[in-house]
Amino acid sequence: MSTVLAIETSCDETAAAIVRDRQILSNVVSSQIQVHQPYGGVVPEVASRHHVETVNWAIEQALQQAGLTWSEIDGIAATCAPGLVGALLVGLTAGKTLALLHQKPFLGIHHLEGHIYASYLSQPDLEPPFLCLLVSGGHTSLIHVKDCGVYETLGQTRDDAAGEAFDKVARLLNLGYPGGPVIDRLAQTGNPKAFALPEGKISLPEGGYHPYDASFSGLKTAVLRLTQALPADAIPVPDLAASFQAAVAQALTKRTIACAINHGLSTIAVGGGVAANSGLRQHLQTAAAEKGLRVLFPPLKFCTDNAAMIACAAAEHLNRGHESPLTLGVQSRMSLAAVMQLYQQSNQPPLADQNPAFS
Ligand code: KG4
Ligand code: ZN
Repeated sequence: MSTVLAIETSCDETAAAIVRDRQILSNVVSSQIQVHQPYGGVVPEVASRHHVETVNWAIEQALQQAGLTWSEIDGIAATCAPGLVGALLVGLTAGKTLALLHQKPFLGIHHLEGHIYASYLSQPDLEPPFLCLLVSGGHTSLIHVKDCGVYETLGQTRDDAAGEAFDKVARLLNLGYPGGPVIDRLAQTGNPKAFALPEGKISLPEGGYHPYDASFSGLKTAVLRLTQALPADAIPVPDLAASFQAAVAQALTKRTIACAINHGLSTIAVGGGVAANSGLRQHLQTAAAEKGLRVLFPPLKFCTDNAAMIACAAAEHLNRGHESPLTLGVQSRMSLAAVMQLYQQSNQPPLADQNPAFS
């Protein structure tokens, strides 16, 4: 059993949490959404500065809320990839410094592995194998979870992430940032069948379509064309929001169900901010029930970025004797398949600095 303090600063949330295996002892999240709202999206340099100002407070709060001292912490973790480089550096530097100071093992965590582990927090008896549908502002992937650190990406978006599509369509409709929650709210009063929008199929060179990959940029362009064809005061915003949301939900549901069935996976765990979407929840739950599949939607606070999910992943790695070298750097992009390159067994010599995983 391991008690881990983790720090998450990959985008616009400064977060710190303490988790004992799959049990949350504290979970502190300071969101920067209001800071970035005037710009219509996250400004990387502004995000880094806010992380620097907030990260120590978040760590202190996490310890205080858990009622623990450093001597009761077994390991320290921080998100190291993928994400905004300047933002990641703040959390990673804080984590490595504390590990050195308090003589604790340090673990760099892949942000998407954290999102996968969010499902374990709300469903502690969950065990691999299962399929994870990860839908956030930066990622849209179907991941076969085989074991801790063993992941196979079976499908993904070829362009925009699902959350990015929500944010871009909201911007087109002048609905502000972030777009997902406001489109979701407006869609409740609109007609999802008002506009026929493309499903974003990916054609294969040998003919036919990729069963699990998707494209969301065409969908966004179709919404743009519709808005351009109408005078600004005649755009039926709720109908457009509802039709767009239904198109995203149907595209994700169709691919997720096909992927689960074809790979013999009876459990689907959904993660990332778009998991909050009511249209996706409804479509996926209905389709899964028809096929006898189990779908897990974690509570919203675990779907959006938080450090508890990072600590949960780190606790499992620590239990298996995995530890990262203090030479570990950050990476803006990193494949989930490369997760194990972040670790050495605690009794092995440090990984070489020039390890390709860290370049
Ligand atoms: O996982 P997350 O908090 O951050 C990233 O790692 O990206 O996801 C944020 C994304 C944003 O694009 C936001 O618009 C979207 O999740 N989102 C939603 C909803 N709530 C948040 N999208 C659709 N419907 C929602 N209710
Ligand atoms: Zn995320």
